[in-house]
Amino acid sequence: MKNKKIAIVTPGGDAPGMNACIRAVVRRAICSGFEVAGVMNGYQGLIDEILIKMDARTVSGIIQHGGTVLKSSRCAQIKTPAGLSKAVQTLKKNKIAHLVVIGGDGSIKAAEKISKNSIPVVCIPASIDNDVFGTDETIGFDTAIDTAVDAIDKIRDTATSFDRVFIVEVMGREHGFLAAEIGLASGAEFVLVPEIKYDINKISDELKKDQKKKKISAIIVFAEGCGDAKKVAKQIFDCTGIDVKMSNLGYIQRGGNPSARSRNLASRFGNASVDLISRGYKNRVIVLHKGEIKSLSIQKVISGKKKINIGTLKLVEKLAV
Ligand code: F6P
Repeated sequence: MKNKKIAIVTPGGDAPGMNACIRAVVRRAICSGFEVAGVMNGYQGLIDEILIKMDARTVSGIIQHGGTVLKSSRCAQIKTPAGLSKAVQTLKKNKIAHLVVIGGDGSIKAAEKISKNSIPVVCIPASIDNDVFGTDETIGFDTAIDTAVDAIDKIRDTATSFDRVFIVEVMGREHGFLAAEIGLASGAEFVLVPEIKYDINKISDELKKDQKKKKISAIIVFAEGCGDAKKVAKQIFDCTGIDVKMSNLGYIQRGGNPSARSRNLASRFGNASVDLISRGYKNRVIVLHKGEIKSLSIQKVISGKKKINIGTLKLVEKLAV
C-alpha cells in the first residue's frame, strides 16, 4: 500500500463535523502509509485541478470548527460528461488511487459516476439533511438539530409571551428528517414534512380547540420541502383569524461548532473509510446501522429510498396536548 495516494473532497452543502472527518481520514491514511491530497472547492476543484498536499499537521485544530477547510461549491459541471471527464482526468493525472467523498446524497450520486471510470471511491455521508439511504445518521445532522432547537427555544419565549402562533421553516431539501427530529426536541405542536400530506383545515381546527383549552401559543415546524410557508400562514389565518408569525432559520442550521456526537461520528466514519481502503474495498459508502459502523455498495445507497419515521411524527402529535 506504500505511497499510494488518497484524495479527499467535500462537495455540496457543508455540514458540521466535516472537518473532524477530514482530520480522521488524513491522520489514519498517513499512519497507514498513504499520501493524502485535499481537493479544494468540492468537485469544482477536481475539474479545475486544485489539489493540496495534506499531512497530520494540516488538520491540526480543526476538529471543533464547522464548515470545511477544503471548501465547497455547488458544481453543476460534474453532472455533464465534459465535467466528469475533466474530474477523472485530474484524478488519473495525479495518480490518485482512491477518492474519499465526504458529502450528501447528490455528492454520492456523482461519486458513483466517477467510480465507473476506474477510480475507486469510498463515500462518507455528511449532510444536515440526513437524507442518505442506508445510514441512520449523517455527519452534521445532530448539530443542525441542536442549532435549530436552540433557535426555536428562543422563538418560543416570544410565542408564549405574546400568545402567538409561529411557523418555523427549517432545511432538509425534499425531506422531513431534520424537521421531524427538531419538532420532537423543541416540543412543537405541529410538524409539516413533504413526505406526508398535511391538512390546513385539520391544523386550523386543532389550533382553535387548543385556544379553547387556553393553549394559545404554538410552534409549527415547517420543512422547506413542503413549499411556501407564507401561503400556509395565510391559509391558517383565513380559517382561524389567527395572525401566524413566520421565522425561517436558514443557513444558521448549517454552521457552527459540531456537537460531540457529530465529531465522534465523523471520526468513526473517517477511520472506517481508511480501514476499508486498506483492506482493498472500493465503491462503498460508510454507514451507521443500529449503532454499528458498516458499509454498503454505492449502488445500494443511491438506489434506496430512505423513509421518514412516522412514529416520531405521531409522538409529536401525542405530546402536543
Ligand atoms: O443539503 C443541505 C442543504 O442545506 C439543504 O438543507 C438546503 O436545501 C440546501 O442545502 C441549500 O443549498 P445551497 O447551499 O445551495 O443554498
